[in-house]
This record gives sequence, structure tokens and C-alpha cells, in this order.
Amino acid sequence: MYLQRRNRILRATPAIRSLVAEATVSPNDFIAPLFIDEGENVETEIASMPNYYRRSLDLTVREVKELWSLGIKSVLLFIKCKDEWKDNTGKEAWNKDGLMQRSIRAIKDAVPGMYVMTDVALDPYSSYGHDGIVENGEIVNDPTVEALVKMSVSHAEAGVDMVAPSDMMDGRIGAIREGLEENGFTKVGIMAYSAKYASCFYGPFRDALDSAPGFGDKKTYQMDYSNRIEAIKEALMDIEEGADIVMVKPGLPYLDIVREVKNAVDVPVSVYNISGEYAMIKAAAKMGWINEEKAILETLTGFKRAGADLIATYFAKDAARLINL
Ligand code: PBG
Repeated sequence: MYLQRRNRILRATPAIRSLVAEATVSPNDFIAPLFIDEGENVETEIASMPNYYRRSLDLTVREVKELWSLGIKSVLLFIKCKDEWKDNTGKEAWNKDGLMQRSIRAIKDAVPGMYVMTDVALDPYSSYGHDGIVENGEIVNDPTVEALVKMSVSHAEAGVDMVAPSDMMDGRIGAIREGLEENGFTKVGIMAYSAKYASCFYGPFRDALDSAPGFGDKKTYQMDYSNRIEAIKEALMDIEEGADIVMVKPGLPYLDIVREVKNAVDVPVSVYNISGEYAMIKAAAKMGWINEEKAILETLTGFKRAGADLIATYFAKDAARLINL
């Protein structure tokens, strides 16, 4: 054969493959989610997330130092609220001495360079396990947005770098931006969970925080997984309202959405490689059906190729170690 073009030339050796690689992952891309618990010296493995832990603040701070030493520049905080502090208003969410607020202060104190983000939604604090306030069996939008503003401002007072509203109420990004401005927090960013779908893959996360909805589902506020164009609408509206970064969530079943959003916006796009995606890789690896390390790197590189600038992932530490090898 006399071929004009032989595509295998660029695949021949590791050197040429790495020279022409289009998408690469580095610890700079990672946001490490952390589950924080009350108490001291407490470390609980999440049953449906093998080798992932909920830790008390002292051990969380130790973990953050380790993440920093591995080159990870950002953490996304979630706390587990005690049952007796949960109610329908979610008011523990803006307690200035609440676990989240103490965690922000302690982490910024211990590792000032670490970029601290916080999840903003009422579900861990809600007696109903919903992301908003419930009235007559409905998750009411506008009163919830008021609560989310209070929550965001209290995180800002504690020193957060960026808040990440994950609730999918209408108008919350604009309201939070206004709340931050009114209170002088002009340096606090907003990463909007813009295209957040009602997904069965959040199951393990809800185990981790004991935050499963007590009734119904989240389909009246999170997006319908049939929809694509709606994701663009959500992202563009959030940017207009003041989002600095927009997120697509979940990750793996939504790579098309990551690409579409990336092509449509002029802000960085993040993707959340969520708990159920972590559980799937862990479970298959445990069964000996896939190679875990290779699956992690292939998955994360896939997010970059799809257009993600940042990746929130429970594999952040494992992947940073693999990349740094
Ligand atoms: C809460 C929230 C959820 C996740 C992040 N923030 C769960 C939900 O909406 O029910 C899921 C993260 C994961 O599954 O890893 N609003």
C-alpha cells in the first residue's frame, strides 16, 4: 500500500502520544469535595463510597494539608448536620458558629492558599431533606432564595472564597450576588450548579450526609435528564445573574452537556464527577472487572476533552498521586 496519511504515526510511542495529546489532567483542575462531621478524631467511611470518609474538623484540616501538598488547590465543603438541628427553615445553615462556618475558618487558617468553596443548599439542614423550604408539600422558591442568601453571606463572613449554590431555585444567583455586594463581599465568587439534573446517581452522597429527601423527589427543581437546550438556558441565565463559573452535574452521563455549555459560554465550566460515578468505578474495580487507576485517569481526561475546565471529583487525591508519579 502507498498511503498518503498514516494515522498510526502519531500513536507510535509514549513520547509522540504525549506530544500530541489534546486533553490532559493535572491537580490544578481538581476540586476535592470534603464531608465534615461534628466531634473530634472521628473518621467514618461512607458505606457506598469505599475509601471515602466523613471526618471531624481536626482530621479534615489534616486532610486539607495533605491535598495541598499533592498540588490540589481547591476543596468543596459539605457538612453533616445533627438531626436535632434540622428544621424546615434550615436556619442552622447560617449559624455563624455552625460546623460549616467553623470549617471555613479553620481551613483558611491552616492552609491560607487553599481555595475554599462551599455547597449552598438547604438539604443537609432540612428536616425534609429537600434543598428548599417546604410549604404544603411544595418546595417554595422565593423564601428559599432568601435563606440561601443568608447562608451565602454567612459563609462569606467566615472567609469562603467561592460559594456553590446547588439548589436549582430560580433567581438565586442574582440574589446571592446582590447579597454579597450589599454586605461588601466583592471578592467572593459564585460557582453555580447551573445544569444540575435530577439524578439517581446522587444516592451515595445522600448516604454520606444523611440528606435523602423525606418525601417525593427533586424533579420540581432539578432538571429533567431528557433536556439539553434547557442546560444552555440555565447556564446563560446564571452568568447574566453573576455566576463566575458554571457547573454541569452529574458528569459521566452528561458529557454532551459539558461540551454544549462550554461552547456556549465565556466563563470557566466545571463538572461534578459525582458520588454514584465514584461508586460505580469502585464497585467494578473491587469485583476485578476494571483497572481502577486506569479508569480514574480515563474518566477525568474525558471530562477535560468534553470541555470541562475544572472537575469536582472524589478521585482528586488518588488522581493527583497517579499524575505526580
Ligand atoms: C445538595 C447536593 C447534592 C450533591 C451535591 N450537592 C445532592 C442532591 O442534590 O441531592 C450531590 C453530589 C454527589 O452525588 O456527589 N444540594
